[in-house]
Amino acid sequence: MDKLNNTSNFINTLNGIHSFNTPIWLMRQAGRYLPEYRKIRKEAGSFLNLCMNPKLSAEVTLQPLNRFDLDAAIIFSDILTIPMACNRELKFIENEGPRLKPINSEVEIFDLKLTGKDYLEPIYESLNIVRNQLGPDKALIGFAGGPFTIAAYMIEGKGSNSFSKCVSFFNNYEKAFLELLSKLESLISNHLIKQIEAGAQVIQIFESHAKIAVQENKFDKFCIKPNDNIIKKIRSRYPNIPIIGFPRNAGNLYVEYVNNVNINCLSIDQNTNINKLLHNLKNSKARNICLQGNLSPEILLKGGKDMIIQINNILENFSSVNHVFNLGHGVIKETPIKNIETLIKTIREWQR
Ligand code: CP3
Repeated sequence: MDKLNNTSNFINTLNGIHSFNTPIWLMRQAGRYLPEYRKIRKEAGSFLNLCMNPKLSAEVTLQPLNRFDLDAAIIFSDILTIPMACNRELKFIENEGPRLKPINSEVEIFDLKLTGKDYLEPIYESLNIVRNQLGPDKALIGFAGGPFTIAAYMIEGKGSNSFSKCVSFFNNYEKAFLELLSKLESLISNHLIKQIEAGAQVIQIFESHAKIAVQENKFDKFCIKPNDNIIKKIRSRYPNIPIIGFPRNAGNLYVEYVNNVNINCLSIDQNTNINKLLHNLKNSKARNICLQGNLSPEILLKGGKDMIIQINNILENFSSVNHVFNLGHGVIKETPIKNIETLIKTIREWQR
């Protein structure tokens, strides 16, 4: 049923209200593929300086909306501000990614405290600036990493395909690892609540390395329960805040996740078999859930006819459910701007 509502089409879709126009935003929509981003980043001196400068981070948050017909802005920040706020030193190495001082012992976990609040305050200030500049039809998304993904970086010290140091840590010291997840749960919940208070109207939880927990048969204990605890805390204060969960690459266990975590929308990666997922969802508690995704960032990078075919397939495949168009992961920095223009035009021209 079509209901008229003054809030954004994106928020309505997350709330289960049917729309003829599929809302669009893209993970990593602000970033190095945009010349205007590169200019501000140069001015800031570094990525972290940019994250910590409310005025500049607000500006880069708005850049993609000034250029493209998108439905939402996502606040420009990073999931690794949480370890920084716990006093774990962080730096970004050009073309390599984040480096954190790794946690090597149980004692370091038991000693961990949220000490550097100053690292989080600029995010709230930036949300405030952005909200005041966005029209009522555009939504502002706040976010955080999921506890498992943040813990994986804190132990490994960097990104990795296998996160082998983290895996051997949690296999040897599960009690300490659970303590780390529990501390992160509490920090992340507070961080998300503060983002809502500062103007975030939608929340996304990036559990980007959920696959590691899936492979080790720990998805329930390390991802589902901690994500659920965070969402319960948020909903005890803000029962109606739309929440998007993204336990990336959870495969067959996406359904487990939506059956046990009270989210409005599930974001899915590009490797997901949509028909199978839709079939499994139909028989689940979460059959009315909204789905977000799932174009491959590599296909967006390449563009051309193949991209248009894929976009139409996705729109068609998701036409029976509430759908937010997005990628299966973030925009790649070499992506041509014209491909994003074509993507948006193709989606806007499509009507279910
Ligand atoms: O989506 C958005 O536009 C919002 C901003 C955002 C960033 N990081 C900006 C960023 C968000 C939501 C994130 C989340 C994030 N950060 C995740 C979860 C999503 C995912 O990608 O799986 C993770 C794992 C991180 C950690 C992180 N930050 C990595 C691995 C990297 C290096 C990768 C790279 O592209 O160099 C970053 C840096 C980062 N975060 C950049 C941006 C725009 C690039 C910074 C730059 O050099 O300008």
